[in-house]
Amino acid sequence: MGEMEDLCVTECTRCPALVDSRSRIVNGVGPEDADLLFVGEGPGANEDDQGEPFVGRSGSVLDDGLRTVGLARADVRITNCVRCRPPENRDPTTEELEHCRGYLEREIDHLDPEVIVTLGKVPSEHLLDRSVAVTKEAGSLEEVRINGTPRRLLICVHPAATLYDRSQAETFENALQRAAELADVDDSDGGQTRLDGF
Ligand code: URA
Repeated sequence: MGEMEDLCVTECTRCPALVDSRSRIVNGVGPEDADLLFVGEGPGANEDDQGEPFVGRSGSVLDDGLRTVGLARADVRITNCVRCRPPENRDPTTEELEHCRGYLEREIDHLDPEVIVTLGKVPSEHLLDRSVAVTKEAGSLEEVRINGTPRRLLICVHPAATLYDRSQAETFENALQRAAELADVDDSDGGQTRLDGF
């Protein structure tokens, strides 16, 4: 199997409701060696249409946030807990999340990212396997075992939350800032960091 084949799901019929509601499977985008992996909930209408995660309004908020902290969309990997659009944009069910889990784990293992950033409640709870008060816990970094490997996970609010509640914009940006710093510091091999000049 080639690398892209490893990460791209081209055929899957495990979730009957999602097979009905999707027009395509939406795989992750971005470098396969990215330091940061952003994980959303699942494709919405725009993503289903264009075949790429976070390309609608939430995507614009994410792109703007990344730019604000000195990152570009092309620098990071972006994926979702489920790869098919749920009907009426409902949350994916526990069963659907489980069906798609192997694809997500394969992507995480292949990338081996410095930090996984969960965007919103669904991905945070799915990967931490506990209930999460996202607004309160945004910006906190945890270690969690995923497919047997300890991973660093940073909780973040969903970009769409900032559209309905302006106070969440700061929470969102602060979490992205922390993600950028964690990725940057870990690139330093213990030598130069962005703080060394201060
Ligand atoms: N919201 C998500 O959680 N994922 C997307 O890809 C788009 C919006």
